[in-house]
Amino acid sequence: MHTLHTIAEVRQQVRDWRQAGLTVGFVPTMGNLHAGHISLISEARRHADRVVASIFVNPTQFGPSEDFDSYPRTLATDSEQLSAAHCDLLFAPSVDEMYPEKNRTWVDVDDLGDHLCGASRPGHFRGVSTVVSKLFNIVLPDIACFGEKDFQQLAIIRRMAQDLFFPVRIIGVATAREANGLAMSSRNGYLSETQKQQAGAIWATLSALKTAISRGERDYPALVQQGTEKLSQAGFSVDYLTISNADTLAPAALPDSRLVIAVAARLGTTRLIDNVTLSIARDQ
Ligand code: PAF
Repeated sequence: MHTLHTIAEVRQQVRDWRQAGLTVGFVPTMGNLHAGHISLISEARRHADRVVASIFVNPTQFGPSEDFDSYPRTLATDSEQLSAAHCDLLFAPSVDEMYPEKNRTWVDVDDLGDHLCGASRPGHFRGVSTVVSKLFNIVLPDIACFGEKDFQQLAIIRRMAQDLFFPVRIIGVATAREANGLAMSSRNGYLSETQKQQAGAIWATLSALKTAISRGERDYPALVQQGTEKLSQAGFSVDYLTISNADTLAPAALPDSRLVIAVAARLGTTRLIDNVTLSIARDQ
């Protein structure tokens, strides 16, 4: 695997591959890789001849009181993992390379960013959409893989690629989980072993709500209240727990058939997110 740090070098490498008739898959990350990221690399490999991963802790998607400075930077071990997963190229730019001047152009996807994490992290998705646009314009991938754990991010990136005619196919990849259901995340590294066990309550709560809806329960506010109480009892401070329309991300109404149950909750100072989707028959 090659590691490159400049936009010009990446463009040259991708140009060479394209001239050789090869397709390019892309996995953008912020590093501190875990098995979930590696499953994105494996998925990209299935769809493209060459795979590029990026590691860039993007300052514009962190709020002023968020963990940008302390976000784990583990380039050496990340490189080993990517290499072992047969990634072809790692792009690891500096902040100056990605933001050489004060950024004046932003990509903002209307509406989808207003709900869920967007409501409590103002500007977060604008930062994500902007940096992913930059990365797409550098790597020019045929396909790009994103984890379904960040359901709202995936929805926003899909819509951005559609609205801005990025010639890339966005592929969502199922969430990798620990044995107790905890969604794998770089932020799990902030949890103690006891908290990791406690955090299994998120998946248990989402699964219970999914089962209740699948069995015909339709009082969504009551279900949300039950789920919130369950998480609070398990020691979480719940940022949001919603049953939402999986396409608009707005709170679900009774006729909606594609739903996402999404949660963000804090255990100590660590904010964890997760979700589960389900489809119900319209006439139920
Ligand atoms: O999901 C992430 O790790 C980041 O939001 C992304 C997509 C790499 C953009 O910085």
